[in-house]
Amino acid sequence: MGNIHLMDEPLSNKIAAGEVVERPASVVKELVENAIDAGSTSIDIYIEEAGLQTIQVTDNGSGMDEDDAVLSFSRHATSKISTEHDLFRIRTLGFRGEALASIASVSKVSLWTSDGISSGTTVEIEGGYVKQKQAGALRKGTVLQVSQLFFNTPARLKYMKTIQTELGHIIDLLNRLALCYPSIAFKLTHGEQVLLHTNGRGDLQQVIAAIYGTAIAKKMIPFEGETADYRIRGYASLPEITRASKNYITLFVNGRWVKHYSIQQAIVNAYHTFLPIERFPLVILQIEGDPYLTDVNVHPAKQQIRLSKEKELQQLVEETIRKSIRSIMRAPEIAEKPKKVIAPSEQLDLWKTKPIQSSTQSMPTFNKKIDSFMVKEPNEPEETFVPSMDTTPSISPKEPFPELDIVGQIHGTYIVAQSADGFYLIDQHAAQERIKYEFFRDKVGEVQAEERQSLLIPLSMHYSADEALRLKEYAGKLEEVGIYLEEFGPTTFIVRDHPVWFPKGFEEEIVKELIEQVLTHRKTDVKKLREDAAIMMSCKRSIKANHYLTKEDMTKLMEDLKQAEHPFTCPHGRPVIVHFSTYEIEKMFKRVM
Ligand SMILES: Nc1ncnc2c1ncn2[C@@H]1O[C@H](COP(=O)(O)OP(=O)(O)O)[C@@H](O)[C@H]1O
Ligand SMILES: [Mg+2]
Repeated sequence: MGNIHLMDEPLSNKIAAGEVVERPASVVKELVENAIDAGSTSIDIYIEEAGLQTIQVTDNGSGMDEDDAVLSFSRHATSKISTEHDLFRIRTLGFRGEALASIASVSKVSLWTSDGISSGTTVEIEGGYVKQKQAGALRKGTVLQVSQLFFNTPARLKYMKTIQTELGHIIDLLNRLALCYPSIAFKLTHGEQVLLHTNGRGDLQQVIAAIYGTAIAKKMIPFEGETADYRIRGYASLPEITRASKNYITLFVNGRWVKHYSIQQAIVNAYHTFLPIERFPLVILQIEGDPYLTDVNVHPAKQQIRLSKEKELQQLVEETIRKSIRSIMRAPEIAEKPKKVIAPSEQLDLWKTKPIQSSTQSMPTFNKKIDSFMVKEPNEPEETFVPSMDTTPSISPKEPFPELDIVGQIHGTYIVAQSADGFYLIDQHAAQERIKYEFFRDKVGEVQAEERQSLLIPLSMHYSADEALRLKEYAGKLEEVGIYLEEFGPTTFIVRDHPVWFPKGFEEEIVKELIEQVLTHRKTDVKKLREDAAIMMSCKRSIKANHYLTKEDMTKLMEDLKQAEHPFTCPHGRPVIVHFSTYEIEKMFKRVM
């Protein structure tokens, strides 16, 4: 007799569950999608311990009769497709017929369901085996309760992250589903707490308000467009609203929340030049097209899809969104308008003369020397490049800061100074960033309660439920950098004051940016947050390029720089000062060989 045998169904289901049921949020996704497929207009999700203890989804959809109630838990049991032909014309969220079987194999499931015609049915299943089946009067619709998820797969259970993380995934999922189905009233409750509640009136802007707050919803503009194959519509944020990640771009294709890089990129491109580099918009995009063009059978969780005529769709998305942003934009603003401040009249004449044009062919280059000052440029966008506090610059900090005699300023950007051993160019902006960075780094390290100052108007900020959870989790860490969050309702926070040394005029901005930092970067420890805070503050109001300085300003700047612990690089790792030695100058002019 051979060694091969067919596995029993519960075992094969358990194996399939490995793919379909990754975490509690995957269960919620499958159950809610089933409820949507059943034509529900109201879906209630109740969870305990981020779904690890209980997930209960109640809907008012079609329900099932007695036979289907049991059959629905068999592998490959589905009412949604029956022939191969259907596979290419999928109009439902489910079609693989394996979700319930998989879920039931790794948890304890109870089902109450009624199609409103025959009497209702209750089924209880444990680890994939039907334990009980009963008939009883029930209203039309379905309640599916999943408890003790992964009770029989301890290895999977071990992989679960914190309650907050798992809950975060669930909230994020429901936010997206609610955005996709404004005509369904969703309610998500975790224990006692209602985390999301939409009214099901079909108004997407109202759903946006329920999730991101009314202030954001008011700044979203509708768009729509079509080609012969695709129709798109949705809401896009005004350029004044930006986010540090692409996570606020939500894509739906034929009612399915999907992740699709090139379409997401088309949205980002639509905002090109409207948003600063590494800032992203908030966009809800609904794409509709013949199901024949959208292959959803690519991945068990059905979040990745393949699109035909992708280029055409990309173009439609980019152009439609761009047009709608343009149409409401006032005079376009340059992201960073350099402020040209002319120094008082006692400027040296030199500063008024036209700066020498740089880099002509005959001019020798100093690359070799400059290279030795350069810290490797970060490849990643700066926002994510944060040198550690302990970073030693390329020049040993012990190298004494030269005695400088200031000569003048060129291009409103660089200070020229000389010493016995040659001359120096100092990037005034980088210099000031370094000085301020060290100042704020020390301040942030010793936030004290008595040093607070009130904001003129307390800042009230509304967040989505998952963001609010994260903020609560990180409240202590934020406090260590001087952000004092006060809870004001489940998803609203108030900030009333801040440490006195926050950069003047930028207090609100700093508070908001630091909060966003915590929301964007999944892993945030206090050390990193402090660095971020110090760098952020040091960049505010540092002297920008094209800013003429008086000799006193320059002398003061050089004195401060001299006091800095690491005067030779700015907090982003770029050089502050470069040196041209007397020897090199003489070599250039062939005075020495
Ligand atoms: N909430 C529900 N209301 C009505 N029918 C449901 C519900 N959930 C599941 N079903 C039925 O059970 C079947 C199996 O569900 P599932 O395992 O998720 O597979 P699929 O959704 O891929 O068909 C569905 O095809 C549907 O007929
Ligand atoms: Mg399903």
